[in-house]
Amino acid sequence: MKGPRGTQDILPGSVEKWQYVETVLQDICNRYNYKEIRTPIFEHTELFQRGVGDSTDIVQKEMYTFEDRGGRSVTLRPEGTASVVRSFVQHKVYGSPNQPTKLFYFGPMFRYERPQQGRMRQFVQFGVEALGSDDPAIDAEVIALAMNAYQELGLTSLKLVINSLGDKQSRNRHREALKQHFTPHKEELCEDCQLRLESNPMRILDCKKDRDHPAMATAPSILDYLNNDSREYFETVKAVLDNMGIPYEIDPNLVRGLDYYNHTAFEIMSESEGFGAITTLSGGGRYNGLVEEVGGPETAGIGFAMSIERLLMALEAEGIELPIDEKLDCYLATLGDEAKQEAAGIIYKLRQEGIQVDKDYAGKKMKAQFKAADRLKARYVLVLGEEELQNNQINVKNMETGEQNTIAIQEVVQHMRSELKED
Ligand code: HAM
Repeated sequence: MKGPRGTQDILPGSVEKWQYVETVLQDICNRYNYKEIRTPIFEHTELFQRGVGDSTDIVQKEMYTFEDRGGRSVTLRPEGTASVVRSFVQHKVYGSPNQPTKLFYFGPMFRYERPQQGRMRQFVQFGVEALGSDDPAIDAEVIALAMNAYQELGLTSLKLVINSLGDKQSRNRHREALKQHFTPHKEELCEDCQLRLESNPMRILDCKKDRDHPAMATAPSILDYLNNDSREYFETVKAVLDNMGIPYEIDPNLVRGLDYYNHTAFEIMSESEGFGAITTLSGGGRYNGLVEEVGGPETAGIGFAMSIERLLMALEAEGIELPIDEKLDCYLATLGDEAKQEAAGIIYKLRQEGIQVDKDYAGKKMKAQFKAADRLKARYVLVLGEEELQNNQINVKNMETGEQNTIAIQEVVQHMRSELKED
Protein backbone atom coordinates (compact mmCIF):
# COMPACT_ATOMS: atom_id res chain seq x y z
CA MET A 1 0.00 0.00 0.00
CA LYS A 2 1.20 3.50 -0.78
CA GLY A 3 0.75 6.74 1.15
CA PRO A 4 -1.89 9.19 -0.12
CA ARG A 5 -1.14 11.20 -3.28
CA GLY A 6 0.67 14.45 -2.60
CA THR A 7 2.23 13.27 0.67
CA GLN A 8 5.73 12.03 1.31
CA ASP A 9 7.75 10.09 3.86
CA ILE A 10 10.95 11.70 5.00
CA LEU A 11 13.39 8.92 5.77
CA PRO A 12 16.76 8.94 7.53
CA GLY A 13 19.22 10.19 4.95
CA SER A 14 16.82 13.03 4.02
CA VAL A 15 15.51 13.97 7.43
CA GLU A 16 18.93 15.36 8.41
CA LYS A 17 18.45 18.08 5.80
CA TRP A 18 15.11 19.02 7.32
CA GLN A 19 16.62 19.10 10.80
CA TYR A 20 19.54 21.22 9.61
CA VAL A 21 17.29 23.71 7.82
CA GLU A 22 15.06 23.97 10.89
CA THR A 23 17.99 24.84 13.15
CA VAL A 24 19.23 27.51 10.72
CA LEU A 25 15.75 29.05 10.50
CA GLN A 26 15.31 28.95 14.28
CA ASP A 27 18.65 30.66 14.69
CA ILE A 28 17.66 33.43 12.27
CA CYS A 29 14.34 33.95 14.08
CA ASN A 30 16.27 34.20 17.30
CA ARG A 31 18.47 36.95 15.83
CA TYR A 32 15.41 38.86 14.64
CA ASN A 33 13.72 38.20 18.00
CA TYR A 34 10.77 36.16 16.70
CA LYS A 35 9.47 33.54 19.18
CA GLU A 36 8.02 30.17 18.28
CA ILE A 37 4.28 29.51 18.48
CA ARG A 38 2.64 26.09 18.05
CA THR A 39 -1.04 25.96 17.16
CA PRO A 40 -3.29 22.96 16.45
CA ILE A 41 -3.27 21.23 13.08
CA PHE A 42 -7.06 21.50 12.81
CA GLU A 43 -9.30 24.46 13.47
CA HIS A 44 -12.99 25.31 13.14
CA THR A 45 -13.71 25.57 9.41
CA GLU A 46 -15.19 29.02 9.96
CA LEU A 47 -11.75 30.42 10.89
CA PHE A 48 -10.42 29.84 7.38
CA GLN A 49 -13.66 30.87 5.69
CA ARG A 50 -13.47 34.19 7.51
CA GLY A 51 -9.67 34.52 7.63
CA VAL A 52 -8.38 33.23 4.32
CA GLY A 53 -11.56 34.33 2.56
CA ASP A 54 -14.63 32.66 1.05
CA SER A 55 -13.77 33.58 -2.53
CA THR A 56 -10.26 32.09 -2.54
CA ASP A 57 -9.31 28.84 -4.27
CA ILE A 58 -8.01 27.59 -0.94
CA VAL A 59 -11.40 27.84 0.76
CA GLN A 60 -13.50 26.91 -2.26
CA LYS A 61 -11.54 23.98 -3.61
CA GLU A 62 -8.61 22.94 -1.50
CA MET A 63 -9.54 22.46 2.13
CA TYR A 64 -9.56 19.13 3.94
CA THR A 65 -12.82 19.70 5.77
CA PHE A 66 -14.79 17.11 7.70
CA GLU A 67 -17.32 16.78 10.45
CA ASP A 68 -15.96 15.43 13.70
CA ARG A 69 -17.95 12.93 15.73
CA GLY A 70 -19.70 15.78 17.51
CA GLY A 71 -21.00 17.16 14.23
CA ARG A 72 -18.70 20.22 14.16
CA SER A 73 -17.06 21.18 10.90
CA VAL A 74 -13.29 21.19 11.28
CA THR A 75 -10.52 21.74 8.73
CA LEU A 76 -6.88 20.68 8.53
CA ARG A 77 -5.09 24.01 8.39
CA PRO A 78 -4.23 25.08 4.82
CA GLU A 79 -1.89 27.83 6.13
CA GLY A 80 -0.64 29.24 9.40
CA THR A 81 -1.61 32.91 9.55
CA ALA A 82 -5.30 32.49 10.46
CA SER A 83 -4.42 30.13 13.33
CA VAL A 84 -1.73 32.45 14.68
CA VAL A 85 -4.15 35.36 14.60
CA ARG A 86 -6.87 33.26 16.27
CA SER A 87 -4.45 32.35 19.03
CA PHE A 88 -3.30 35.98 19.39
CA VAL A 89 -6.93 37.02 19.91
CA GLN A 90 -7.98 34.08 22.09
CA HIS A 91 -5.11 34.60 24.54
CA LYS A 92 -5.39 38.39 24.41
CA VAL A 93 -1.72 38.60 23.50
CA TYR A 94 -2.49 42.09 22.18
CA GLY A 95 -2.77 43.15 25.85
CA SER A 96 0.89 42.42 26.56
CA PRO A 97 3.17 45.47 26.74
CA ASN A 98 5.64 43.83 24.35
CA GLN A 99 4.29 44.90 20.98
CA PRO A 100 4.66 44.11 18.17
CA THR A 101 4.22 40.41 18.87
CA LYS A 102 6.76 38.64 16.67
CA LEU A 103 6.11 34.94 16.12
CA PHE A 104 7.35 32.11 13.97
CA TYR A 105 6.04 28.60 13.28
CA PHE A 106 6.87 25.35 11.58
CA GLY A 107 4.41 22.69 10.67
CA PRO A 108 2.43 20.66 8.20
CA MET A 109 -0.26 22.39 6.13
CA PHE A 110 -2.87 20.67 3.94
CA ARG A 111 -4.28 21.70 0.58
CA TYR A 112 -6.17 19.50 -1.85
CA GLU A 113 -4.22 20.66 -4.92
CA ARG A 114 -3.19 18.78 -8.04
CA PRO A 115 0.18 17.38 -6.96
CA GLN A 116 3.24 18.17 -9.05
CA GLN A 117 6.86 18.97 -8.33
CA GLY A 118 6.85 21.55 -5.51
CA ARG A 119 3.12 21.22 -4.94
CA MET A 120 2.07 18.75 -2.29
CA ARG A 121 -1.16 18.02 -0.48
CA GLN A 122 0.71 17.94 2.81
CA PHE A 123 3.68 20.28 3.00
CA VAL A 124 5.63 21.95 5.78
CA GLN A 125 5.57 25.69 6.14
CA PHE A 126 7.96 27.86 8.06
CA GLY A 127 6.37 31.26 8.58
CA VAL A 128 6.62 34.41 10.64
CA GLU A 129 3.96 36.90 11.73
CA ALA A 130 4.49 40.33 13.29
CA LEU A 131 1.32 41.62 14.91
CA GLY A 132 0.67 45.06 16.33
CA SER A 133 2.73 47.44 14.22
CA ASP A 134 2.01 49.34 11.03
CA ASP A 135 5.53 50.72 10.82
CA PRO A 136 6.77 50.16 7.22
CA ALA A 137 10.12 49.18 8.73
CA ILE A 138 8.57 45.96 10.00
CA ASP A 139 7.42 45.09 6.48
CA ALA A 140 11.05 45.44 5.44
CA GLU A 141 12.18 43.43 8.48
CA VAL A 142 9.93 40.49 7.53
CA ILE A 143 11.16 40.59 3.93
CA ALA A 144 14.76 40.84 5.12
CA LEU A 145 14.30 37.82 7.41
CA ALA A 146 12.98 35.77 4.47
CA MET A 147 15.84 36.80 2.17
CA ASN A 148 18.35 36.24 4.95
CA ALA A 149 17.07 32.72 5.51
CA TYR A 150 17.57 31.70 1.87
CA GLN A 151 20.93 33.40 1.58
CA GLU A 152 22.26 31.92 4.78
CA LEU A 153 21.47 28.45 3.44
CA GLY A 154 23.51 29.29 0.36
CA LEU A 155 20.92 30.25 -2.29
CA THR A 156 21.97 32.97 -4.71
CA SER A 157 19.52 32.79 -7.64
CA LEU A 158 16.76 34.68 -5.90
CA LYS A 159 14.33 37.33 -7.03
CA LEU A 160 12.27 39.43 -4.64
CA VAL A 161 9.07 40.80 -6.15
CA ILE A 162 6.99 43.35 -4.27
CA ASN A 163 3.74 45.18 -4.79
CA SER A 164 1.30 47.28 -2.85
CA LEU A 165 -2.35 46.29 -2.68
CA GLY A 166 -3.12 49.58 -0.96
CA ASP A 167 -5.77 50.21 1.66
CA LYS A 168 -9.49 49.48 1.31
CA GLN A 169 -10.26 52.75 -0.45
CA SER A 170 -7.49 52.24 -3.02
CA ARG A 171 -8.55 48.66 -3.62
CA ASN A 172 -12.23 49.58 -4.04
CA ARG A 173 -11.32 52.10 -6.75
CA HIS A 174 -9.05 49.58 -8.44
CA ARG A 175 -11.75 46.92 -8.19
CA GLU A 176 -14.22 49.11 -10.07
CA ALA A 177 -11.62 49.85 -12.75
CA LEU A 178 -10.89 46.12 -13.14
CA LYS A 179 -14.60 45.34 -13.45
CA GLN A 180 -15.01 47.89 -16.19
CA HIS A 181 -11.90 46.65 -17.94
CA PHE A 182 -12.76 42.94 -17.94
CA THR A 183 -16.56 43.08 -18.37
CA PRO A 184 -16.42 43.44 -22.18
CA HIS A 185 -14.25 40.25 -22.22
CA LYS A 186 -16.37 38.31 -19.72
CA GLU A 187 -17.37 35.54 -22.12
CA GLU A 188 -13.74 34.94 -23.15
CA LEU A 189 -12.58 34.40 -19.56
CA CYS A 190 -12.51 31.05 -17.78
CA GLU A 191 -15.46 30.04 -15.61
CA ASP A 192 -13.64 30.92 -12.39
CA CYS A 193 -12.73 34.37 -13.67
CA GLN A 194 -16.31 35.05 -14.72
CA LEU A 195 -17.27 34.51 -11.08
CA ARG A 196 -14.23 36.46 -9.87
CA LEU A 197 -15.38 39.43 -11.91
CA GLU A 198 -18.15 39.82 -9.36
CA SER A 199 -16.61 38.45 -6.19
CA ASN A 200 -12.96 39.53 -6.38
CA PRO A 201 -11.79 40.90 -9.76
CA MET A 202 -8.21 41.33 -8.54
CA ARG A 203 -7.85 37.56 -8.46
CA ILE A 204 -8.30 37.52 -12.26
CA LEU A 205 -4.76 38.94 -12.50
CA ASP A 206 -3.47 35.77 -10.86
CA CYS A 207 -5.35 33.29 -13.09
CA LYS A 208 -3.21 30.64 -14.72
CA LYS A 209 -5.75 29.81 -17.44
CA ASP A 210 -6.33 33.38 -18.62
CA ARG A 211 -2.72 34.45 -18.20
CA ASP A 212 -2.22 35.04 -21.94
CA HIS A 213 -5.49 36.84 -22.64
CA PRO A 214 -4.65 40.21 -24.28
CA ALA A 215 -6.79 42.08 -21.74
CA MET A 216 -4.37 40.99 -19.00
CA ALA A 217 -1.50 43.07 -20.31
CA THR A 218 -3.61 46.24 -20.43
CA ALA A 219 -5.41 45.73 -17.10
CA PRO A 220 -5.42 48.74 -14.78
CA SER A 221 -2.51 48.67 -12.33
CA ILE A 222 -3.19 48.92 -8.60
CA LEU A 223 -0.24 51.28 -8.32
CA ASP A 224 -2.20 53.89 -10.30
CA TYR A 225 -5.07 53.64 -7.83
CA LEU A 226 -3.18 53.98 -4.54
CA ASN A 227 -4.35 56.93 -2.47
CA ASN A 228 -1.76 59.21 -0.88
CA ASP A 229 -1.45 57.27 2.38
CA SER A 230 -1.02 53.97 0.59
CA ARG A 231 1.49 55.39 -1.87
CA GLU A 232 3.51 56.96 0.92
CA TYR A 233 3.47 53.70 2.86
CA PHE A 234 4.79 51.76 -0.13
CA GLU A 235 7.46 54.39 -0.81
CA THR A 236 8.73 54.04 2.77
CA VAL A 237 8.85 50.25 2.57
CA LYS A 238 10.91 50.55 -0.61
CA ALA A 239 13.19 53.16 0.95
CA VAL A 240 13.91 50.88 3.94
CA LEU A 241 14.66 47.97 1.59
CA ASP A 242 17.01 50.25 -0.38
CA ASN A 243 18.69 51.19 2.85
CA MET A 244 19.21 47.54 3.71
CA GLY A 245 20.65 46.95 0.25
CA ILE A 246 18.00 44.36 -0.64
CA PRO A 247 17.23 44.47 -4.38
CA TYR A 248 13.62 44.00 -5.52
CA GLU A 249 11.38 44.21 -8.54
CA ILE A 250 7.95 45.76 -8.52
CA ASP A 251 5.17 43.71 -10.08
CA PRO A 252 1.77 45.45 -10.04
CA ASN A 253 0.13 42.13 -10.97
CA LEU A 254 1.35 40.38 -7.82
CA VAL A 255 -1.93 39.84 -6.00
CA ARG A 256 -1.46 36.70 -3.83
CA GLY A 257 -4.01 33.94 -3.38
CA LEU A 258 -5.44 34.86 0.02
CA ASP A 259 -8.02 37.55 0.73
CA TYR A 260 -6.54 39.10 3.84
CA TYR A 261 -3.81 41.15 2.20
CA ASN A 262 -3.47 44.92 1.93
CA HIS A 263 -0.54 47.30 1.42
CA THR A 264 2.71 45.36 1.04
CA ALA A 265 2.62 42.01 -0.81
CA PHE A 266 5.74 40.09 -1.77
CA GLU A 267 7.03 36.84 -3.18
CA ILE A 268 10.51 35.38 -3.44
CA MET A 269 11.24 33.34 -6.55
CA SER A 270 14.02 30.97 -7.48
CA GLU A 271 15.72 31.91 -10.71
CA SER A 272 17.75 28.74 -10.80
CA GLU A 273 17.41 26.95 -14.14
CA GLY A 274 16.80 23.48 -12.76
CA PHE A 275 14.04 24.58 -10.40
CA GLY A 276 10.97 23.60 -12.39
CA ALA A 277 7.66 25.15 -13.36
CA ILE A 278 6.67 26.57 -10.00
CA THR A 279 9.18 29.26 -9.17
CA THR A 280 7.68 30.83 -6.04
CA LEU A 281 9.66 29.94 -2.94
CA SER A 282 7.67 31.99 -0.48
CA GLY A 283 5.05 34.66 -0.18
CA GLY A 284 3.59 37.06 2.29
CA GLY A 285 2.32 40.49 2.99
CA ARG A 286 0.44 42.83 5.25
CA TYR A 287 -2.98 41.91 6.61
CA ASN A 288 -4.30 44.84 8.66
CA GLY A 289 -7.91 43.95 9.45
CA LEU A 290 -7.47 40.20 9.91
CA VAL A 291 -7.31 40.44 13.72
CA GLU A 292 -10.67 42.28 13.73
CA GLU A 293 -12.11 39.67 11.33
CA VAL A 294 -11.23 36.99 13.88
CA GLY A 295 -12.82 38.95 16.74
CA GLY A 296 -9.91 40.98 18.15
CA PRO A 297 -9.22 44.70 18.41
CA GLU A 298 -7.89 46.74 15.49
CA THR A 299 -4.35 45.43 15.00
CA ALA A 300 -1.93 45.62 12.10
CA GLY A 301 -0.12 42.51 10.91
CA ILE A 302 2.42 41.28 8.40
CA GLY A 303 4.09 37.96 7.73
CA PHE A 304 5.23 35.43 5.19
CA ALA A 305 5.57 31.68 4.77
CA MET A 306 7.77 29.32 2.79
CA SER A 307 7.54 25.61 2.32
CA ILE A 308 10.55 23.54 3.30
CA GLU A 309 9.84 21.27 0.28
CA ARG A 310 10.44 24.13 -2.16
CA LEU A 311 13.42 25.38 -0.19
CA LEU A 312 15.08 21.95 -0.45
CA MET A 313 14.24 21.82 -4.17
CA ALA A 314 15.93 25.19 -4.67
CA LEU A 315 19.02 24.03 -2.76
CA GLU A 316 19.20 20.99 -4.99
CA ALA A 317 18.69 23.04 -8.17
CA GLU A 318 21.62 25.24 -7.16
CA GLY A 319 23.74 22.21 -6.26
CA ILE A 320 24.14 23.25 -2.63
CA GLU A 321 25.30 20.57 -0.19
CA LEU A 322 24.27 21.25 3.38
CA PRO A 323 27.02 20.71 5.95
CA ILE A 324 25.51 17.63 7.53
CA ASP A 325 27.73 15.57 9.78
CA GLU A 326 26.75 11.94 9.31
CA LYS A 327 29.53 10.58 11.49
CA LEU A 328 29.16 8.27 14.46
CA ASP A 329 31.54 8.88 17.39
CA CYS A 330 32.27 5.24 18.18
CA TYR A 331 31.42 1.69 17.27
CA LEU A 332 32.09 -1.05 19.77
CA ALA A 333 33.14 -4.34 18.17
CA THR A 334 33.24 -7.50 20.27
CA LEU A 335 34.53 -11.04 20.03
CA GLY A 336 32.97 -13.79 22.13
CA ASP A 337 29.88 -13.99 24.34
CA GLU A 338 31.48 -12.62 27.45
CA ALA A 339 32.77 -9.54 25.66
CA LYS A 340 29.34 -9.00 24.16
CA GLN A 341 27.80 -8.89 27.63
CA GLU A 342 30.46 -6.58 28.98
CA ALA A 343 29.98 -4.31 25.94
CA ALA A 344 26.39 -3.49 26.89
CA GLY A 345 27.59 -1.94 30.16
CA ILE A 346 30.37 0.02 28.47
CA ILE A 347 28.04 1.40 25.84
CA TYR A 348 25.51 2.41 28.48
CA LYS A 349 28.16 4.41 30.36
CA LEU A 350 29.50 6.07 27.19
CA ARG A 351 26.01 7.12 26.14
CA GLN A 352 25.25 8.46 29.59
CA GLU A 353 28.31 10.65 29.23
CA GLY A 354 27.01 12.12 25.96
CA ILE A 355 29.11 10.02 23.60
CA GLN A 356 27.40 8.69 20.50
CA VAL A 357 27.99 4.96 20.22
CA ASP A 358 26.54 1.89 18.55
CA LYS A 359 27.34 -1.80 18.36
CA ASP A 360 26.42 -4.96 16.47
CA TYR A 361 23.14 -6.69 17.26
CA ALA A 362 23.17 -9.21 14.42
CA GLY A 363 25.92 -11.61 15.56
CA LYS A 364 28.39 -10.41 12.92
CA LYS A 365 31.99 -11.65 12.75
CA MET A 366 34.76 -9.20 13.68
CA LYS A 367 35.52 -8.30 10.04
CA ALA A 368 31.86 -7.60 9.29
CA GLN A 369 31.64 -5.46 12.43
CA PHE A 370 34.50 -3.31 11.12
CA LYS A 371 32.67 -3.03 7.79
CA ALA A 372 29.51 -1.92 9.58
CA ALA A 373 31.55 0.66 11.51
CA ASP A 374 32.87 1.94 8.19
CA ARG A 375 29.40 2.23 6.71
CA LEU A 376 28.25 4.16 9.76
CA LYS A 377 31.30 6.44 9.36
CA ALA A 378 32.50 5.68 12.88
CA ARG A 379 35.40 7.86 13.95
CA TYR A 380 36.61 5.32 16.52
CA VAL A 381 36.23 1.58 16.76
CA LEU A 382 36.56 0.13 20.23
CA VAL A 383 37.51 -3.54 20.22
CA LEU A 384 36.72 -5.83 23.10
CA GLY A 385 38.01 -9.36 22.47
CA GLU A 386 38.63 -12.29 24.80
CA GLU A 387 42.22 -11.28 25.43
CA GLU A 388 41.37 -7.64 26.17
CA LEU A 389 38.63 -8.76 28.51
CA GLN A 390 41.02 -11.00 30.44
CA ASN A 391 43.34 -8.04 30.95
CA ASN A 392 40.43 -5.74 31.73
CA GLN A 393 41.38 -3.62 28.75
CA ILE A 394 39.85 -2.28 25.57
CA ASN A 395 41.44 -1.36 22.26
CA VAL A 396 40.64 2.03 20.75
CA LYS A 397 41.30 2.61 17.07
CA ASN A 398 41.14 6.03 15.46
CA MET A 399 39.69 5.24 12.03
CA GLU A 400 41.07 8.37 10.41
CA THR A 401 44.70 8.04 11.49
CA GLY A 402 44.82 4.29 12.12
CA GLU A 403 46.37 5.00 15.55
CA GLN A 404 45.59 2.41 18.23
CA ASN A 405 45.67 2.54 22.01
CA THR A 406 44.99 -0.12 24.58
CA ILE A 407 43.49 1.30 27.73
CA ALA A 408 41.90 0.06 30.94
CA ILE A 409 38.13 -0.49 30.64
CA GLN A 410 37.47 1.84 33.60
CA GLU A 411 39.19 4.64 31.72
CA VAL A 412 37.25 4.33 28.48
CA VAL A 413 34.79 7.16 29.14
CA GLN A 414 37.54 9.54 30.20
CA HIS A 415 39.72 8.51 27.25
CA MET A 416 36.97 8.86 24.64
CA ARG A 417 35.91 12.20 26.04
CA SER A 418 39.39 13.65 25.59
CA GLU A 419 39.88 11.99 22.16
CA LEU A 420 36.60 13.42 20.84
CA LYS A 421 37.34 16.83 22.29
CA GLU A 422 40.64 16.93 20.36
CA ASP A 423 38.93 16.13 17.03
P1 HAM B 1 0.86 31.07 0.35
O1 HAM B 1 1.41 31.89 -0.77
O2 HAM B 1 -0.43 30.40 0.13
O3 HAM B 1 0.78 32.03 1.60
O4 HAM B 1 1.92 29.98 0.76
C1 HAM B 1 3.20 30.36 1.16
C2 HAM B 1 4.22 29.35 0.68
O5 HAM B 1 3.84 28.04 1.07
C3 HAM B 1 4.37 29.25 -0.84
O6 HAM B 1 5.18 30.27 -1.34
C4 HAM B 1 5.03 27.90 -0.96
O7 HAM B 1 6.40 27.97 -0.58
C5 HAM B 1 4.33 27.12 0.12
N1 HAM B 1 3.21 26.34 -0.45
C6 HAM B 1 1.93 26.70 -0.62
N2 HAM B 1 1.21 25.69 -1.13
C7 HAM B 1 2.07 24.65 -1.29
C8 HAM B 1 1.92 23.30 -1.75
N3 HAM B 1 0.74 22.83 -2.14
N4 HAM B 1 3.01 22.52 -1.77
C9 HAM B 1 4.21 22.98 -1.34
N5 HAM B 1 4.40 24.23 -0.90
C10 HAM B 1 3.34 25.06 -0.86
C11 HAM B 1 0.39 31.65 2.85
O8 HAM B 1 0.21 30.51 3.18
C12 HAM B 1 0.31 32.79 3.82
N6 HAM B 1 -0.19 32.26 5.11
C13 HAM B 1 1.66 33.45 3.98
C14 HAM B 1 1.60 34.59 4.95
C15 HAM B 1 2.00 34.57 6.22
N7 HAM B 1 1.12 35.78 4.70
C16 HAM B 1 1.21 36.52 5.77
N8 HAM B 1 1.71 35.79 6.72
